[in-house]
Amino acid sequence: MRAIVVDRWMEPAELQVREVSEPELVPGGLDVEVRAAGCNFFDILMVQGRYQLKPPFPFTPGAEIAGVVRRVGAGVSGFAEGDRVLASPGLGGFAERCVVGAGSAHPLPQAMSFEEGAALPIIYPTSFAGLVDRGRLARDETLLVHAAAGGVGIAAVQIGKALGASVIATAGGAEKCEIALREGADHAIDYRDEDFVSRVMELTDGRGADVIYDSVGGDITDQSLKCIAWNGRLVIIGFASGTIPSIKANRILLKNIEVTGLHWGAHAQKAPERIPEVFGALFDLYAAGHIRPVIFERYPLEKLPDALHALGSRRTWGKVVITPS
Ligand SMILES: NC(=O)c1ccc[n+]([C@@H]2O[C@H](COP(=O)([O-])OP(=O)(O)OC[C@H]3O[C@@H](n4cnc5c(N)ncnc54)[C@H](OP(=O)(O)O)[C@@H]3O)[C@@H](O)[C@H]2O)c1
Repeated sequence: MRAIVVDRWMEPAELQVREVSEPELVPGGLDVEVRAAGCNFFDILMVQGRYQLKPPFPFTPGAEIAGVVRRVGAGVSGFAEGDRVLASPGLGGFAERCVVGAGSAHPLPQAMSFEEGAALPIIYPTSFAGLVDRGRLARDETLLVHAAAGGVGIAAVQIGKALGASVIATAGGAEKCEIALREGADHAIDYRDEDFVSRVMELTDGRGADVIYDSVGGDITDQSLKCIAWNGRLVIIGFASGTIPSIKANRILLKNIEVTGLHWGAHAQKAPERIPEVFGALFDLYAAGHIRPVIFERYPLEKLPDALHALGSRRTWGKVVITPS
């Protein structure tokens, strides 16, 4: 089969497709023919050797997939050959076949395409658990989503609207603001051109945002504490800006706010009962038409370097997807 193989730390531009043997089916595993695989910013860091997880060589990156089950490992129940599934294997997704633990797989809803399925397993549970489990977002509250046209950002906008919140989006540039509005945001602020703090205060009649969903970090986090409401919750999701902010503790005290964070992978490991609950809730939202993964572009396997280049250069919105077979 064809797969991307990393046998030394390299730049994404150097990634190549190789002919390799099919992955070994292990007990508890599913051998999935990969129809689509989602790209993530950490794929870039992982192949460069700059990510916290450094797999032994050789390895195939690719953390989330959707495809068709071709073989079912010993001890697996609930899946059969031919089933359409989505899964988060962590590694191995940028290949024609991938063996995933059955515990990380979910039946792909009938109406969901493989590409949508490959775009869902990381950003949607992250945004759902971030807003619900950590942010306790309530109906009629105001949600501020930063980088609202990015992967987790779009998911947060859609989920926030579905939960009945009023959503204010920030994004870099007019085109990304348009995307955020199209995906359901009530207001969009181009935070490259406009002071988002004063605009949020204006839009909330001086109250500020009840929940702030922050996947950017840096100055954006610091500024956010100036437009958060009394009893507000700042949910830290990531640091796309590349800068981990320091938070002034007096701001936490003065406005009675909570600063919280969500790491979906760790959350799912520590509270595994939330995995079926969160995916079940997401599939219900999808069926009701409230959420829909947005695909920026699809690339064949050999174009993974171009896909990661697009992702790394801040040009994309929603998800970039690879279609290996
Ligand atoms: N906590 C978790 O479990 C979890 C799960 C998934 C992802 N994450 C993290 O969340 C962050 C966003 O992930 P994503 O999948 O949404 O990524 P993405 O699709 O690449 O979107 C990131 C967005 O951040 C904004 N941004 C601001 N400063 C940037 C900079 N210096 N370089 C690049 N982008 C910048 C960009 O939007 P504008 O151009 O509009 O500013 C970009 O579209 C990442 O740090 C990722 O590691 C965390």
